[in-house]
Amino acid sequence: MTCRICSADVSVLLDLGTSPPANSLKKSPEQFQDSYPLVLEICDNCGNVQLRDCLDEEALYKDYFYVTPSSTLLSRHYDFLQSFLFKNNYLTSNSFVLEIGSNVGLFLDHIKPNVAKVVGIDPAQEISEIANQKGIETVCDFFNEESSVKLKDQFGNPNIILARHCFAHNCDPHRMLKGVTHLLDDSGLFVIENAYLLNTIENNEFDQIYHEHMFYYSIRSMKALLAIHNMHLVDIIMSPIHGGSIVFVAKKVSAEDKISSAVGKYTLQEDLLLTPSAFKHFVENTWRIKDTLSRLITGLRDGGWTIYTYGATAKGNTLLNFIGLTDKEIKYCVDSTPMKQGKYLPKSNVKVISEEESQANPPDYFLLTAWNYRDEIVNKVRQAGNYTSQFIVPIPFVHIL
Ligand code: TYD
Repeated sequence: MTCRICSADVSVLLDLGTSPPANSLKKSPEQFQDSYPLVLEICDNCGNVQLRDCLDEEALYKDYFYVTPSSTLLSRHYDFLQSFLFKNNYLTSNSFVLEIGSNVGLFLDHIKPNVAKVVGIDPAQEISEIANQKGIETVCDFFNEESSVKLKDQFGNPNIILARHCFAHNCDPHRMLKGVTHLLDDSGLFVIENAYLLNTIENNEFDQIYHEHMFYYSIRSMKALLAIHNMHLVDIIMSPIHGGSIVFVAKKVSAEDKISSAVGKYTLQEDLLLTPSAFKHFVENTWRIKDTLSRLITGLRDGGWTIYTYGATAKGNTLLNFIGLTDKEIKYCVDSTPMKQGKYLPKSNVKVISEEESQANPPDYFLLTAWNYRDEIVNKVRQAGNYTSQFIVPIPFVHIL
């Protein structure tokens, strides 16, 4: 196979077997779902890490139930991102902001009072309707060259385009960048927020591997990709959100561009830490977590303890399916998202229940599949009066809180 950034040959880094699309929850346990390989590849030429098999976008986003959760952690992250953008004049009160993959419009809603105009674009029908009902103008479409032409005709040039946790959800980033370069003028900015490969590797976050995540970006691979489109990085900021995220600030290359010292600093750090031995440890630790968690959960089940998972997350589905855990070991999955409740997790067939149902009938153990909201969820459970259920955290190594 070849690299979808630079076309060089790639090699296999990790094979997690097969799984159905991680966000396609089922309406009944009997509903049949196809499974597809989850194989991670690495390119020595440009540093790109990519998923080998890309699913068709229409199939992937048809039964899409991912709704940005309302979370204090996320809301604090929005404040952090907004103040970074304003402080550096990347955003001003005159800015027209376009967000790609804007989901129900939570981030746009957050910044709307402080900028001139916000528009979202998202391919999921039900989800973009929710955004429009809330007053966030949202076009229901995939973002690419064709839709960028329509967006330009309808709304003009945005000053800044945001792509938060969706840029890697696309098999061909070149198409997306062609849309971005069509829409932005020479001073326009493209801000990409994504899980950061260095964190994924260092924290053993193999559960971040699922079909929507078609790329696992590093600074090196992002620079290589941008260069093909005559763009470059002018700033970088790191955030602990979602297990470690990176925010890239990019623009079309111009001689007057001021490059923040953060770009050099984080590039050096990545060169030192993202080494072949780091990748080797990641792969070894992935198999170790599988083995430990499998033995722990089956041992608890055999001992008569009840186990729920907390968070009907995409990463939770990779975790359960890779380890081979099903409704035989896990009684329920708890999730606060109404659209997910009453449905069944793909392949494992675990039924999703609400937090209220879980509080009324708590388990002995929660396997924390939304480990990125660990403190928030544990506090919520304890504040609701449940002091007995214990939490098993799978990442970066299996432990009980
Ligand atoms: P997310 O971390 O976005 O996971 P992924 O990207 O892997 O799908 O999803 C978090 C899930 O956790 C989401 O479905 C909502 C749920 N959740 C709760 O059930 N209770 C909570 O208090 C929080 C913060 C999240």
